[in-house]
Amino acid sequence: MSSITSGERLILASEHKEKANIESVDATSFHWNDEFDQWRARLQGKWNAAYECIDRHVDEGRGDRVAMIYVNDDIHEEITYRQLKNETDRFAVVIKAKGIKRGERVFTLLPKTPNAYITVLAIIKAGAVAGPLFEAFQEDAIFERMYNCDAKMIITDAQLKSRVPSNKLPALEHVLIDGEGADKEAGEYHLQEELESVSKESAAQVTEWVDENEGMIIHYTSGSTGQPKGVLHSHRAIVQQKKTGEWVLDLKENDVYWCTSHPGWVTGSSYGIFAPFLNGATSLINTGRFDANEWYSYIERFNVTVWYSAPTAFRMLKAAGGQELIERYNLSSLRHVLSVGEPLNPEIVKWGYEQLNVRIHDTWWMTETGAQLIVNLPNQTIKAGSMGRPLPGITVAILDESGNQLPRGLVGQLAVRKGWPSMMREIWKNEEKYRSYFPYDGEWYVSGDLAYQDEEGFVFFQSRNDDMINSSGERIGPFEVESALITHDAVIEAAVVGKADELRGEIVKGFVVLHPDYEESPALLEEIRLHVRGKLAAHAAPREIEVLKELPKTRISGKIMRRLLKEQA
Ligand code: WTA
Repeated sequence: MSSITSGERLILASEHKEKANIESVDATSFHWNDEFDQWRARLQGKWNAAYECIDRHVDEGRGDRVAMIYVNDDIHEEITYRQLKNETDRFAVVIKAKGIKRGERVFTLLPKTPNAYITVLAIIKAGAVAGPLFEAFQEDAIFERMYNCDAKMIITDAQLKSRVPSNKLPALEHVLIDGEGADKEAGEYHLQEELESVSKESAAQVTEWVDENEGMIIHYTSGSTGQPKGVLHSHRAIVQQKKTGEWVLDLKENDVYWCTSHPGWVTGSSYGIFAPFLNGATSLINTGRFDANEWYSYIERFNVTVWYSAPTAFRMLKAAGGQELIERYNLSSLRHVLSVGEPLNPEIVKWGYEQLNVRIHDTWWMTETGAQLIVNLPNQTIKAGSMGRPLPGITVAILDESGNQLPRGLVGQLAVRKGWPSMMREIWKNEEKYRSYFPYDGEWYVSGDLAYQDEEGFVFFQSRNDDMINSSGERIGPFEVESALITHDAVIEAAVVGKADELRGEIVKGFVVLHPDYEESPALLEEIRLHVRGKLAAHAAPREIEVLKELPKTRISGKIMRRLLKEQA
C-alpha cells in the first residue's frame, strides 16, 4: 500500500489484496431505478426480505454454506443456510400460529446469539414487522418503544423478561421465552416447546409474500426533542443493502464477515443481518462485551476477512496496547475493514494503516437512511478525516439555512437527494416528524449533520446541527435522559448535553437542579446516575452530573439552552 501526506492530510491509495467487486461496474451510469426494475422483474410482486436472505441460497444450491459462526467462550457453533431456513420456517409458523398478522409488530429482546438473528428473520418471513431491542435496554426504554407501536408479541429470555412491563402494554398478547424459565401460569410460552409441534407441511408454506413497501423492521432512534422515534423500513430496503454489501463491504463467496454491532441497532440489522445474508456471506456472531485480546483472537481464530466496527472500538483497541499486543495475533486474514457511527479520527486511520496493515474505510449513513450513502469504496483513494464520497447513484448537497446549495468547501447542512431504495418508509405514527426531514420543497433529505464537500467530492463531517449526543456511536436524545433524570425524587429539573471525550467521542453530561430537601453529595449523584441507568440503559446514563441552582433558559419560550450548557461542559 502507498500513502502520501498532503499538507496535514494522510492519503491512502487503493492497493487491496484482491480485485474489488465494484471494479467491474460503471458507477457513473448507475441508477437505483434500474436496479429496482431488475428486482421487480425477478420477484413479480412476491417480496420477502427473509426469503431473499436465506431461502434463495438454498433454492439455488448454496444451502450448505455456513451462514453463521457463533462464538461465546467455549461455545463454537456453525449454522448453514439450510439450517437457518429450517429454523426460521419453524419460528415463523409459531409466530403465525399465535395469530400474528401481516404488518403487526413483534419485538425481540435477546442477547447477541443466533436466536437474536433467527427470530428477526422469522418475524419478517411471517410478514410481520420486527422490532429488535438492544439487550441493555431497561424497562422505561422498552416500554416507550413497545407502547408506541402497539407491539403484539415479544420474544425474550428468562434473564431479560423482567424488564418487559407486560401489564402496562395493552396491545401485548404473547410473551415467548427462548430457553428455560417460561412462567406458563402467567401466560408465557416456551419457544422451543412451541417449535416442537410445528409440522413439515406448515413450515413449507410459511413465507408471506408481501409488497415491496410493506413494513419489515422498526428501529427506534433518538431525536433532540421528544421520545425516540420509530423508523420503519420496508422490504424494498434490501435492494440497497444487497448492493452496498457487494460494493462497500466487498463481500465475496469465501469471506468471513464480522459486524460487531447488536441487531438492536441499525448497523446490526442492515449490515449484521441483511447485507451479509443477502450476499450469502458467513457471519461471525460474538456474545459479550468489548475485550481487546478477545477481539483480536476472534480475527485470528476464525480468519475474519471483512470487519465492520466503530471508531470507539478502534480507539479502545489502540489504547489497549501497541505493536507488542498486536503481534501476539495473526491478523493477516483481514482484507477489508470499515467503520461507522461517529467521526473516524485521522489518527485512527493512521493507526490502522501502520499497526494493523489495513485501510479503515469510513461509511456514513443513519437509521433513517437504512443503508450506506457516503462511503469509501475499496478501489478508491481514502483521505483520512473524510467520510468518503457519495455511493454511486446518490447525490449529496451542502445546503444553507434557506435550502440553497453552497459551493464546495463551505460548511452547511448535509443533505441527500431523495429516491434511494432503503429510505425509511415512515416515522411510526408521526407524519409531521417524517415531513420535517424534507424542509425545502421535498427534494432534499436533510440529515441534521453539518459538513462540507471538497473539490473532489469528499465529504467532511463537522458536527450535529442539533442537540443530539453521539456516545461511542450510539445516538442519545437529551430529552429521554432528562425525562428519566426527573423521575428521581431529588431532581426538579434536568438538562443533558454531550461533552467531548477522547475515547467515546462524546459522553452524556447531565445538569440537574436539586429539590431543596436534598443535599448535594457524591453518593446522591451516583444514586441519580444509577437511577437513569436502571430505567434506560447503561449507555444513556450520564457519566457526569453537575448540580446547578437553575438552568439557563430562553427568556421568551423558556426552552433550556443546551448549547450554553454544552459550552460550559
Ligand atoms: C453520526 C448509525 C461521522 C451522524 C448508522 C449521523 C457519523 C448519526 C458517521 C446517525 C460517520 C454516522 N462519521 N458521523 N462515518 N456515521 N454518524 O442513526 O451524526 O445511529 O447523523 O446511524 O451518526 O446515527 P444512527
